[in-house]
Amino acid sequence: MRHHIWTYGNESSTAGSAKEVAEVAGDTGARETDEARAVNEDEAASGPAVPPPVLVTFTGVEKHYPDGTQALAPVDLAVRDGEFVSIVGASGCGKSTLLRLASGLTEATAGTVSPSTGRISYVFQDPTLLPWRSVRRNVETLAELTGVPRAEYRPRAAEIIDLVGLGGFARHRPRSLSGGMRMRVSLARSLVLSPDLFLLDEPFGALDEISRERLGGELLRLFELRRFGAALFVTHSVAEAVSLSTRVLVMSPRPGRVVAEFAVPFGYPRPAELRFREDFTRLTAAVSRRLRDGEAT
Ligand SMILES: Nc1ncnc2c1ncn2[C@@H]1O[C@H](COP(=O)(O)OP(=O)(O)O)[C@@H](O)[C@H]1O
Ligand SMILES: [Mg+2]
Repeated sequence: MRHHIWTYGNESSTAGSAKEVAEVAGDTGARETDEARAVNEDEAASGPAVPPPVLVTFTGVEKHYPDGTQALAPVDLAVRDGEFVSIVGASGCGKSTLLRLASGLTEATAGTVSPSTGRISYVFQDPTLLPWRSVRRNVETLAELTGVPRAEYRPRAAEIIDLVGLGGFARHRPRSLSGGMRMRVSLARSLVLSPDLFLLDEPFGALDEISRERLGGELLRLFELRRFGAALFVTHSVAEAVSLSTRVLVMSPRPGRVVAEFAVPFGYPRPAELRFREDFTRLTAAVSRRLRDGEAT
């Protein structure tokens, strides 16, 4: 089976210069994951807890770039189905490198990255929409490029456009949309592919705080609806990380390694006023402190 990596532009690309979808030879994980998930759901109904399947595993992963930059010190990490894992760390500590490794866009120079699913989608801070295409056609682009039959992607795209709150804008062009709406299009475009693992690299970093919080809430709703199995989410904002995640990882400055991990005890759905609660602010303070300690060393 082919292992598909869905990617669309990157941080340095200019709007509209959509990168081709990269295809990397891979394993047969997608089907196994679906089966494992079905078993899990059966188990959940009948009692005994079986841990959900792991979607990607990092074992002793290092990344040295050819110019000698060491971006990552050994990183060990596993993301399971049903997890929303955020990564916080100083600029340049290797967060984007870690996501690129998870997606297979770049290779580890030591250790191994083992995805156990072929369904991995990637969303960047820059939505890189095609300016000449309508919202609907933009949302359909990745599915179209990767050979999903039109009869399949068309209704799926229409449904997801509604889900991300763009129902009335399907015929609009990107230039008539706000930054938040463009990011919704970008999310929808990836979600049409029903990813098991959703990689998000500071997706809301360019938005104002209100839009950012609103989109975070909407992303969680899509997670609760199982529009993606698990997320690996990079952000600069500790409050955003805690408010979205089941687990927050703190990275050291470059070369990045995971120096702390915080389990987030809040269930879903999360109330909008969670951010004002004392247990929330206590946790964000602990994460921030760890982040600052890491930077001092
Ligand atoms: N292709 C590359 N070649 C050389 N150095 C790189 C390359 N990509 C990233 N780096 C360097 O690796 C480090 C980690 O980068 P990155 O993963 O983008 O960090 P972050 O996303 O945490 O800001 C930085 O010092 C960056 O300059
Ligand atoms: Mg980055």
